[in-house]
Amino acid sequence: MIAYIKLFYDLVGPKLLVLLAVMQLAAIVEGFGISLILPIIQGDQGSESRLATIIDWGFDLISLTPNLTNTLVVLVVFFAIRGALLIAQSWYQSRVLARNLTGMRVGFATAIASAEYEYLSRQDTGVLSNVMSVEIERVNFALSQLLGLMVATTTAIVYIGIALLIAPVVTIFLAVLVLPIAVIMLFLNRLTSRASLQLTDGSNKQQSVFLEMLRNMKYLKSTGRSIPVVRRVVMESRRVGDAYRRLSFLQGATSYGLEPFIVLVLASVIYFFTEVRGANVLEILFLLFVFRTAAVNLVATQPAYRKFISATGSMRVYRELRSKLEDNKEPDSSSNPVPDFTSGVSLKNVTYIYPGQDAPSVNNLSLSIPAKSTVAFVGPSGSGKSTTANILASLLSPTSGEVLMGDQVYEDVNVEQLRENVGYVTQESVVFNASLKDNILLWQEEQIDQSRLDEVIAKTGLNKVRGTHQDDETLGDGGTALSGGERQRLSIARELYWESELLILDEATSSVDSMLEKQIDEVIKNQRGTKTIIVIAHRLSTVRDADVIFVFEDGKIAESGSFEELVKAGGLFSNMAKLQSF
Ligand SMILES: Nc1ncnc2c1ncn2[C@@H]1O[C@H](COP(=O)(O)OP(=O)(O)OP(=O)(O)O)[C@@H](O)[C@H]1O
Ligand SMILES: [Mg+2]
Repeated sequence: MIAYIKLFYDLVGPKLLVLLAVMQLAAIVEGFGISLILPIIQGDQGSESRLATIIDWGFDLISLTPNLTNTLVVLVVFFAIRGALLIAQSWYQSRVLARNLTGMRVGFATAIASAEYEYLSRQDTGVLSNVMSVEIERVNFALSQLLGLMVATTTAIVYIGIALLIAPVVTIFLAVLVLPIAVIMLFLNRLTSRASLQLTDGSNKQQSVFLEMLRNMKYLKSTGRSIPVVRRVVMESRRVGDAYRRLSFLQGATSYGLEPFIVLVLASVIYFFTEVRGANVLEILFLLFVFRTAAVNLVATQPAYRKFISATGSMRVYRELRSKLEDNKEPDSSSNPVPDFTSGVSLKNVTYIYPGQDAPSVNNLSLSIPAKSTVAFVGPSGSGKSTTANILASLLSPTSGEVLMGDQVYEDVNVEQLRENVGYVTQESVVFNASLKDNILLWQEEQIDQSRLDEVIAKTGLNKVRGTHQDDETLGDGGTALSGGERQRLSIARELYWESELLILDEATSSVDSMLEKQIDEVIKNQRGTKTIIVIAHRLSTVRDADVIFVFEDGKIAESGSFEELVKAGGLFSNMAKLQSF
């Protein structure tokens, strides 16, 4: 409990204290107001109780006679103040809650964007998206419940205080009666907490299998293989339903189970007062009212507490994920020197082992790429080309060895600056569900170079897309409204529009027909000498003109040289070339 209050304090800050202070004040003012009823109903009889003495003392303090009119006026004033405080509290509370919700989401999205790629690539998108949309909402809901819980607790404590002032012995006697209830509650709360964690876990899994199903729907539908995948979604949904059922039942059962106890307690009070003490009927009625209010508030704490507990699973998952993202945050390199793009990039004895793997995917590899040269990576599938490109793009840090720009190692340069100068057509096309223009400009609205935009669209053969899609028409989730080759060309167009010093093209034209490929090769050729270009390709025609071709094999470079040199050498490359009829 304390840990969660601390979590909220971390999220909300000192505002939480302000909120609590206002609530406390409202409860105390209410207590004072209610206490004034006692002298009114007692009339001239007077009372021996400590509360009556305090009230007399209060009237003395503001120099008022405690007659009926004055008491009523003070009563009204107290409740007016309470009303104002509660309105202020609810205004402030909604603000705190809304800001907290936005703050958590912004923080989460930012933390993801600043985490290491290596860590992110291993995360389940279903889990991340579930936390972003569902779990964060539940954490905020828990916060609202916690606040409600605190209001009810404070009010109950104030009323118990009043009861103690009127009749201390009975109140303590009641407290003892209530003790077993507290023990049962504690047990039920533990069960609820466990069910809550199951619910969150289940929701995460459900979201992840559901997203997977959506992502692969085309394949699953066309091959009639959706049944086992749908079954997975059904299974996870059932598990979530089960946890939900348990949680709901625990919530309801406890509230209803509590009521008979409360009635028992109240009945005992009436019996004790009338039969044992023979006290003033009005005083008993008032005391009953005080007990009832305390009890109602205590009872009200239970559903709030249970709802709060039922979101503890979400809080735990959210907190763990946030701290993992924090642990895997990229180091801040903003104060490091800007990389020197006039010098080339090189790898020195670089080995890279993917987390959880035994064998290296890049094995003690050294290569040097002179500035503004055009080089090619070729080699069998799985030989480490994309991994090496990711290392050069500073997405992956080598397990051992050094990546250098000139004589600066990557760790010592301003990585943000480095990346701003990297253009990357990744092996998987990157298409946003936005218009063609936004896909290229990445929603930039100012300083748009319209002629450059028109030019890159024309050069990559995207004019047809422009003709068939309205200007503001979106291209579908992941570019479903485009053909495979169009998706690739769009990725190329984006990189041609944006300036870069190091351009990596990983299988950029693998889905493009030969005629268009020639045309795009021409465009890329025009870029030669203006920047460093790395072309990764299986089609060897694409790499014919490269200054140097690096032939990859099992994470190493088997051979390197110009096209003609390599063909002559009669090694792996010449074999590959023969198979592609060169
Ligand atoms: N995220 C990953 N986790 C674990 N292993 C990986 C991961 N990505 C790639 N690998 C492994 O690393 C090796 C090199 O992969 P890489 O993607 O660099 O190959 P490639 O040369 O680009 O192949 P292709 O021509 O098929 O694109 C492969 O054996 C692959 O299984
Ligand atoms: Mg690859």
